Amino acid sequence: MTILQWDDAFLLGEPSLDQQHKVLVQLINELSTAMDTSAQEGPDSDFVLAELASHLYAHMDYEEQLFEDRGFSELLSHKLLHEKYRQIFHDLYLAFKDEDRPDKIQVLQKMVEWVENHIAKEDAKFKPYLS
Ligand SMILES: [Fe+2]
Ligand SMILES: [Fe+2]
Repeated sequence: MTILQWDDAFLLGEPSLDQQHKVLVQLINELSTAMDTSAQEGPDSDFVLAELASHLYAHMDYEEQLFEDRGFSELLSHKLLHEKYRQIFHDLYLAFKDEDRPDKIQVLQKMVEWVENHIAKEDAKFKPYLS
């Protein structure tokens, strides 16, 4: 199930970042699909969670390094936002690992809102540093 629709408004104009954001959106959708226990095909949620964790952490490290290299003036506050992101992902991870948690979809929805908002509003502030 598509829980987060890719929007070209997310594009920053830096191919490496745009590609990483696309994969992030794709993995979130795969996780949403894996939650549907009636779906017979596709990877299970443990597998997608592990993929999402490694992609998300690598992306944030990559982004922070690139922002630092280009002298992005809001680097420190952006790093703090990423820290919040790690926390939200950690909550999501715990929710998916606990079979008794009934609120998985709500936690995933929170992550979706955060990702949308972060790419469209926060990562977008880096655009002027790309030329
Ligand atoms: Fe990003
Ligand atoms: Fe970011």
